[in-house]
Amino acid sequence: MQPKTIAVIIGSLRKGSYSRMVAKALIALAPASLSLEILEIGGLQIYNQDLDETPSSEWIDFRDRLKYFDGVLFVTPEYNRSVPGVLKNAIDVGSRPYGKNAWNGKPGAVVSVSPGHLSGFGANHHLRQSLVFLNVPAMPQPEAYIGGAADLFTENGALKQGSTREFLQQFMVAFSQWVARNSTEQISG
Ligand SMILES: Cc1cc2nc3c(=O)[nH]c(=O)nc-3n(C[C@H](O)[C@H](O)[C@H](O)COP(=O)(O)O)c2cc1C
Repeated sequence: MQPKTIAVIIGSLRKGSYSRMVAKALIALAPASLSLEILEIGGLQIYNQDLDETPSSEWIDFRDRLKYFDGVLFVTPEYNRSVPGVLKNAIDVGSRPYGKNAWNGKPGAVVSVSPGHLSGFGANHHLRQSLVFLNVPAMPQPEAYIGGAADLFTENGALKQGSTREFLQQFMVAFSQWVARNSTEQISG
């Protein structure tokens, strides 16, 4: 069986981003049934509905690339108890023009990351709210709230051995099963 292709969307543009480190660890720990690729969102112009008729090449490219993937994995920090603007912008760009939602029907999962103890719970659930509207079935369990992120990595950005590593590995196995169960061709027949 061909592996399912997964777009990994990271909600931080910061060079030393913990979210990016977690995303890379998830990619490395994923089972062979998934093929993951980071889909960058930092170059997307801010969404403006006036430009629906004349979209930028970055918007067109992002929407076209997104449509090709079988599923989506969001790894995001929390900004002010919600999702960072750069991530909300990517969600909006992918969702339009009206009737051409590129996220439609792709099974997804959400991982929130924070150096703090609340572990990005607010961002995780605000994101899930948008995913309901976008018709992205988001994996309910296991939930992934990665707190204390500053202590999880070595100086080189590698995930340390330990319970978080084991959890992330189990999370990706569960996500692979979720994608297989909810992929469009399964639903349509
Ligand atoms: C504008 C802004 C708002 C933030 N708000 C929150 C927050 O609501 N909750 C939280 O846990 N951390 C918050 N933080 C701290 C981030 O969790 C921290 O900067 C983290 O390293 C960002 O993720 P990254 O390492 O992937 O870039 C905020 C940071 C910024 C810059």
